[in-house]
Amino acid sequence: MEHLVNSKVKQIELSGIRKFFNMVADIEDVISLTIGQPDFETPEHVKNAGIDAILANYTTYTHNAGFYELREAACHFVEKKYGLTYSPKNEVIVTVGASQAIDCTFRTLLEEGCEVIIPSPVYPGYEPLIKLAGGDPIYVDTTNNQFKLTADLIAPYINENTRCIVLPYPSNPTGVTLSEDELKDIAELVRNKNIFVLSDEIYSELNYGKQHHSIARFLREQTIVINGLSKSHSMTGWRIGLLFAPESVTKHILKVHQYNVSCATSIAQKAAYEALTSGIDDADQMKKAYEERLEYVYHRLVKMGFEVVKPDGAFYLFPSIKKFNQSSFDFALSLVRHAGVALVPGSAFSEFGEGYVRLSYAYSMEQLVEAMDRIEKYLESL
Ligand SMILES: Cc1ncc(COP(=O)(O)O)c(C=O)c1O
Repeated sequence: MEHLVNSKVKQIELSGIRKFFNMVADIEDVISLTIGQPDFETPEHVKNAGIDAILANYTTYTHNAGFYELREAACHFVEKKYGLTYSPKNEVIVTVGASQAIDCTFRTLLEEGCEVIIPSPVYPGYEPLIKLAGGDPIYVDTTNNQFKLTADLIAPYINENTRCIVLPYPSNPTGVTLSEDELKDIAELVRNKNIFVLSDEIYSELNYGKQHHSIARFLREQTIVINGLSKSHSMTGWRIGLLFAPESVTKHILKVHQYNVSCATSIAQKAAYEALTSGIDDADQMKKAYEERLEYVYHRLVKMGFEVVKPDGAFYLFPSIKKFNQSSFDFALSLVRHAGVALVPGSAFSEFGEGYVRLSYAYSMEQLVEAMDRIEKYLESL
């Protein structure tokens, strides 16, 4: 009966990150720097709020958009941190992770033939969802622009089919982000055009040395802001995302969300409330540790001769491996086999990721030191 399965679904492939992870899972004594999730535990007070919610029988459906106080806390969070103003009444939706917020957004905005401009290399989660919603992903090569999708790169790709631009900054897999001026330029470019911006800011709390800016401050009416607690509060498994947009858009996204999941898990919502109130600055501790690791790994890589753009945020480095004259897949495979270190081939992040590998430094300093030693030894043996 497989022939009856929706052809769009059949054409989608599993994420290259997972594929590579599964492939190397059985090789022994490998330090894996492949996964993009914090290595910290969810803060204790947040875990306790989840436990309390269960004990208090907070186990029923909530409002579709999330319980009101949580929506208030979410709006307060983005106002305090990034100067964004949204109404808790009708301009925020609590979703099942940022992933579901992205899916609901594309399904609400796109129709057959709509084009979505995406920087490349990029997180692989957008393309399948765009295609399922009938849209066409249009990748823009950012490799010669410090991995930044700036207004001058976007302009040539805008046409009457362009419905949306994805701005995923700070970026997975490159860690770079856009400055306030670069965001303003993009806002000017698309202002009053029939184009939305999906601004995926899931790493907004993990920025090093630079203040995070959201394009919604300059282009509120056309922007859908995606955020969540997965990275900021080390809550990947709780599945709490946040979506902010003007009421005219949110009211339609809410319908898709409602029929999809009814609401985010009530227990996780209570934990999220604790995180966004008493734990509003919880990311700071983790950020300090990430920054130390970033400095260490970045300098080790540079010392080994890798060309690598120094990131502004998230917890990834994306060094070039072009000088080894191997595909990123073959390079990563040799590294696993001969050095015992797993990195993700850049090709997992769309075609322009070829020639790079992604290293996640959301791992302990001990693991990072050992991994760097192993890579160095391997390179010396070549
Ligand atoms: C850029 C980006 N957006 C969205 C997500 C998904 O976040 P969540 O786990 O909250 O669904 C990830 C996860 O790695 C990501 O890197």
